[in-house]
Amino acid sequence: MSSALVLEDTDSIADPALLRRVCATYPTGVAIVTASDGERRRGGLTINSFISVSLDPPLVLWSLSSRSPNRAFFNSATQGAITILAHDQAELALRFARPHQDKFDGVPLRKVAGDAPVIDGGVAFMRCKPWSVTEAGDHLLHIWEVKAAAVLSPEAPLVFHGGEMRRGFE
Ligand SMILES: Cc1cc2nc3c(=O)[nH]c(=O)nc-3n(C[C@H](O)[C@H](O)[C@H](O)COP(=O)(O)O)c2cc1C
Repeated sequence: MSSALVLEDTDSIADPALLRRVCATYPTGVAIVTASDGERRRGGLTINSFISVSLDPPLVLWSLSSRSPNRAFFNSATQGAITILAHDQAELALRFARPHQDKFDGVPLRKVAGDAPVIDGGVAFMRCKPWSVTEAGDHLLHIWEVKAAAVLSPEAPLVFHGGEMRRGFE
């Protein structure tokens, strides 16, 4: 029997760090999700909880910690954007993963329609319209309808695995 961590059905995950370690074995991309509330206020953060949900209608999902100070802002957002980051954007990912006076200050943005900022230099982006928000444990599941999308570059993506950000593929 391998020495892998095995969780019996009866066990409750008393140790959240265990769940984090198990989920960290699953590689994900890294994205910056941004939104605007239509009154020129904008916000953004780094996520790796992005998944595609439905093709018709085109829906994607990301989850926000219920402890986020921007919870109310994202709940009332009228427009959103998701930028899939490229391998050389780890610093930007860290910047949007920390509270900051103005996370966008000095960050090159892509000129696209809509108020939700799209970060320049990513491998792809989607412009979205919020569709629903559902509470799920200690997170909020935001489902967004994709209104426009583009692949911007064949560059390797940024990947999050084992708690570290690294280049997607060699
Ligand atoms: C690689 C990476 C992925 C992350 N994924 C998420 C996520 O999916 N959902 C989330 O709420 N926070 C996620 N975070 C943490 C947020 O980016 C961080 O808490 C940020 O400060 C939240 O912004 P805010 O304080 O403006 O709400 C992630 C951080 C990193 C570095």
